Parts: sequence; structure tokens; C-alpha cells
Amino acid sequence: MRTPDYKIQSPAVAERFAAIKRRPVVLEIDRLGREFAGATGPVTALRELSFAVHRREFVCVIGPSGCGKSTLIRMLAGLDTPTSGRLLLDGKPVTAPGPDRGIVFQGYTLFPWLSVLRNVMFGLEMQGRTGTAAEADARQWLDLVGLAKFADAYPHQLSGGMKQRVAIARALAPNPRVLLMDEPFGALDAQTRAQMQAHLLEIWRNVDVTILFITHDLDEAVLLADRILVLKANPGELQEVIEVSVPRPRCIEQLTTPEFQATRRRLDELIHPKLHTPSERLPIVRLTQAGDDVE
Ligand SMILES: Nc1ncnc2c1ncn2[C@@H]1O[C@H](COP(=O)(O)OP(=O)(O)OP(=O)(O)O)[C@@H](O)[C@H]1O
Ligand SMILES: [Mg+2]
Repeated sequence: MRTPDYKIQSPAVAERFAAIKRRPVVLEIDRLGREFAGATGPVTALRELSFAVHRREFVCVIGPSGCGKSTLIRMLAGLDTPTSGRLLLDGKPVTAPGPDRGIVFQGYTLFPWLSVLRNVMFGLEMQGRTGTAAEADARQWLDLVGLAKFADAYPHQLSGGMKQRVAIARALAPNPRVLLMDEPFGALDAQTRAQMQAHLLEIWRNVDVTILFITHDLDEAVLLADRILVLKANPGELQEVIEVSVPRPRCIEQLTTPEFQATRRRLDELIHPKLHTPSERLPIVRLTQAGDDVE
């Protein structure tokens, strides 16, 4: 069977994207640039990046290592400052970290000395919310990520997937407008990762939050996103925006559908372009002289 062109959309899919674009813009990235002073001269991590994310949209960002994905997340989080351009959240410039943005990183960032419940309460306490109301709130978030029974456990007693579920609960507890996720499932094994993707989609369906999700994994991007921003490196620039026509609700079984495969293949072409000239081929170095050929 021929795989359809990922760009050909049914009227229903076209209407889905038109509806997303009618929603208010939550996050506006406007001609954003970031330069660093590198060891051998200036490094342009990001150049002229412009993009708008609409309310409750799920946007994935994908691109080769060093194309500025983490730099983008750090600036959105208010942990780094652009050298040019603007970042607006609900129309207001982002200048510092704030409770309107929740963040989940790849590395496990829970406080090891706090119980699971206390970890989730942390953000609420930073907002001055303490006592039984804050605790009830935190327990509700733990329930949502399926960890109500582990409220009194400590991070070292949890698996990697469970830790990231706590991290998601902690990030969502202060009711952020945007959830920023930088390769949150990158350190998990394939099976746990698939479970976490399903969990996240379920959470997103139940919570009024807009998600910007960085990943290296092409299948993950297609499975999760409404739209995928494809960046290229040196300098980090927007290469293409892909609208994912795979119907929602999404599930792992869709990986083999023609729509999924078509989008996946387009991403593959963009991220892993074919090498054409011989000079681009890697040199072949033989590391064995033993004559024990394996193929
Ligand atoms: N604090 C810094 N000082 C100097 N250069 C930096 C700094 N932070 C990032 N860079 C450079 O900016 C570029 C983008 O880095 P960034 O970490 O955003 O990439 P990335 O897309 O997240 O990569 P990866 O996929 O490997 O996580 C890289 O060339 C990196 O070396
Ligand atoms: Mg990164």
C-alpha cells in the first residue's frame, strides 16, 4: 500500500487545525535569538525563531543535538535571557521564572530529602499556599498521575517512570499556563517510555494546559503533538512546521497507520538527510586484524 503524503489532509483534519488556530495565543516566540561566547568564537544557538502556540495545543520540538532546544526551554522558563527577539506569555514578556510555567527536565529533579507528597506541595508552598488545602490539592495531582498510594514514599524508593510522574504532578500543581518539558522521558526504557506517553496524553486531556515538549524521538513527536517544530543546527533555525494529522485520541497502536508513517517519514527526511557525495561518507577504519570476519 502506498503511504499518503503527510500534507494531504481530510476536511475534518483541516478543520481541527483551523480550530486550534482560532484559540488564543498563549506563547509567542518572536524573532528569538541567542548567542553564546564559545571557545572558538560566538555560537548562535538560536536565530530568528518565530512561532505561536495556542491554548491547549501540544507542540513538540525536534532537531539535531545542539540546535538550541534546551536553550529555548531555558529562556521560556526564565532561566536564560535572549540576545534578540521577544518571548511573550499571554502577551506579557517573560523575564524571570514564574508559577505560570511548569518545567520537567530529563534528569530526575525531585528533592531526595522530601517525600513524594512534599515534593508536589513544594511549588504550592512557594506560592504561599500551605496547610490542609495545599495538601489536598497535592494529593489530587498525585491521584491524577496514578501515585496516590506513594504519597509518603521518598524519591529513591521510586522507579524512573514514577519519579517523572511525580515531577509532572509537581510541575502541574501550581496550575501553570504552560508545561515545558525537555526530553522528560529520554532516560526511560522503551516500555516505560510508551506508558509515560500514554499517561501524559491522558493528563493533558484532563488539564487545561498548553504543552511544549522537546524530544529526540520521532515516533514520540508524532504520537504526542498537534504540531511539530523541526529545527536545524548551526545556527538553530526553524526548518519546518508539521501538522500531525493522526486522529485523536492517540494510542500506541496508531504507529502502524498510514498517516502516522507518512508524518514519521517526513520527519526522518528532515532530521536524517541522505548523504550524497563520497566526501560526506565517514572513513572506514578497521579495528581488527584478526581475520575473524563476522559477516
Ligand atoms: N551556557 C552556554 N555557554 C556556551 N554555549 C552554550 C551554552 N548553552 C548552550 N550552548 C551552545 O548552544 C548550542 C545549543 O545548545 P542546546 O543545549 O540548546 O542544544 P540542544 O538542542 O538542547 O541539544 P541536545 O539535543 O544535545 O540536548 C550548542 O552549540 C551549545 O554548545
Ligand atoms: Mg538539550
